[in-house]
Amino acid sequence: MDKQLFADHLATLCKRYDDILEQCGFDTLNVFSGAPSVQFLDDNYYPFRVNPQFKALVPVTDNPHSWVIYRRGQKPKLLFYRPVDFWHYVPPAPQTFWSDEYDIELLAKPDEAKAYLTGENAAFIGEAARFDGWEIGQRNPQHLIAQLHWARAYKTPYEFTCLREANRIAVRAHQAAEEAFRAGASEFEINLAYLKAAGQGENQMPYGNIIGLNEHGAILHYTHLSTEPLPESERRSFLIDAGADCNGYCADITRSYAYREGEFAELVSAMHDKEQELVAGLTPGASYVELHKSCHQKIGQLLQQFGVIKTSPESAVESGLTRTFMPHGLGHFLGLQVHDVGGHQTAPEGGTTPPPAEYPFLRTTRTIEENQVFTIEPGLYFIDSLLGELKESQLADEVNWDKVEKLRPFGGVRIEDNVIVHADHVENMTRDCYGN
Ligand code: GLY
Ligand code: MN
Ligand code: MN
Repeated sequence: MDKQLFADHLATLCKRYDDILEQCGFDTLNVFSGAPSVQFLDDNYYPFRVNPQFKALVPVTDNPHSWVIYRRGQKPKLLFYRPVDFWHYVPPAPQTFWSDEYDIELLAKPDEAKAYLTGENAAFIGEAARFDGWEIGQRNPQHLIAQLHWARAYKTPYEFTCLREANRIAVRAHQAAEEAFRAGASEFEINLAYLKAAGQGENQMPYGNIIGLNEHGAILHYTHLSTEPLPESERRSFLIDAGADCNGYCADITRSYAYREGEFAELVSAMHDKEQELVAGLTPGASYVELHKSCHQKIGQLLQQFGVIKTSPESAVESGLTRTFMPHGLGHFLGLQVHDVGGHQTAPEGGTTPPPAEYPFLRTTRTIEENQVFTIEPGLYFIDSLLGELKESQLADEVNWDKVEKLRPFGGVRIEDNVIVHADHVENMTRDCYGN
């Protein structure tokens, strides 16, 4: 990674933090990386997940008991935990593309942080429970967190570079996963092929990999990973939703495949076209909610084109019929978190703009702006529970149930890309990596 790119990024962040801290009435920000949590009635720990507001300042994702102390207008300080520990890996003192930008102090014990922390005109962001009696400032002030969350939607060139690299890693792994699928691997084996090609472990993934063969593609967050390989005659379809990490930034990519030529293969191909039309709709000033609604029109068109419904797309959207087949939202902000923060926020100061009542799972209601990064992920699924409800409803007559039965064994299709909104064009990071 280019040192200057990170230095420029940090300079942008410091300016943002200076303004936000001043507005919120603080001089100092103390951000704690987090501490591992022990499992109930056990002596093993859950995988460590860093405080996102910590990795927003410094690209360290795997070191608990560390701190960033930022005093307005000053060089940020990093308290980097380096215990004497013969049980666990201890990371080396940082010497990398970002380390010159911080005053770094090494902590041998978590409590040594106390000497550096001040509570005066300070705010603290992190899991606070372990700091009873510590002078660390006002704990997790909501007005400050709201401002920081809002600002995180506007990515810097360094962040674009990290997100592009996360996409590059993930696409390489998606290609290996497709190969494993075509060779007859089980879900479990496909996952291993994915991780191996990514060069990243399960705990580095931004979310649990969704790897579903056949009907499993209809379970939106299916993470079971069956070990059973399918005989060739039973291989029909494959849906994979899996990401990768680069310096704490996430990829979140979905691809769907048909094993053979035929109607489902045509549906996958048609969904690619619709998805790319939706990506093109990410223009500054447009409404993400409206784009989500136009996605439902497109799902209605596919349902009609493939003979699943008897009504027009317009009527299927109006009646809610399309929601049976695509119950989730069009997409979300992407960044340090896979569902990046602030998607429902009304203003920098806070407030919530909920999605329309008929689309409760839509994660983004903000106006689309330059330098924001989104996923676009239309889908069409044959979900037993929702189809059961539909069959009992007054819309049942509008459905060709024979066609539903024909497509149900394929589970579903989702195509998901990661996209940067620039002033005059969209950058589809995912398709750039596939070269199409
Ligand atoms: N992988 C979760 C999502 O697409 O939102
Ligand atoms: Mn996804
Ligand atoms: Mn997503």
